[in-house]
Amino acid sequence: KNIAVFASGNGSNFQAIVDAIEAGILHVNVSLLVCDKPGAFVIERAEKAGVPVYSFAPKEFSSKTAFEQAIHEQLENYGVDYIVLAGYMRLIGPFLLEKYPGRIINIHPSLLPAFPGKDAIGQAVSAGVKVTGVTIHFVDEGMDTGPIIAQRAIEIADGETEQEVAEKIHAVEHVFYPETLEKLLN
Ligand code: GRF
Repeated sequence: KNIAVFASGNGSNFQAIVDAIEAGILHVNVSLLVCDKPGAFVIERAEKAGVPVYSFAPKEFSSKTAFEQAIHEQLENYGVDYIVLAGYMRLIGPFLLEKYPGRIINIHPSLLPAFPGKDAIGQAVSAGVKVTGVTIHFVDEGMDTGPIIAQRAIEIADGETEQEVAEKIHAVEHVFYPETLEKLLN
């Protein structure tokens, strides 16, 4: 199966997916990285891994539909079967949702439906919850609202800083996302 990874920033989850393929843990082909932030570090990671990149600046398009059409052309060119969001800081619009029904997956750093949206880790630490986690779910038109595929719980110890919690969450994500994609797609 051919996947396109969509990312906007650092791309540590993109890297974890590439590394899991290399290690024989995940059996898919990363056909394309789609990035909406032309200077993002994830682009360097893709170049190093030999993954083709489509990066674009949304403000150069007249609408979300217009740039999603441009993305879709690339997805068709690369024969993409599934879209895997990994830190893509933008809602998927109706155009792509309709082209990839049930074939768009996201990872979110909380136990949804708790703490959707931006800064989920900061929200959890501020709320003082003792358990948070990671959710992998299908994408629908809402913000982090689609059907849940898998979740992993992570405890927050008394006095743990947001930075420490973030490190634990990312470490879990990097194992959990490739594992879950393998179960789902193979
Ligand atoms: C991850 O925490 C992911 O759950 C969230 O955005 C973050 C992306 O980090 N959706 P990275 O760019 O993969 O390092």
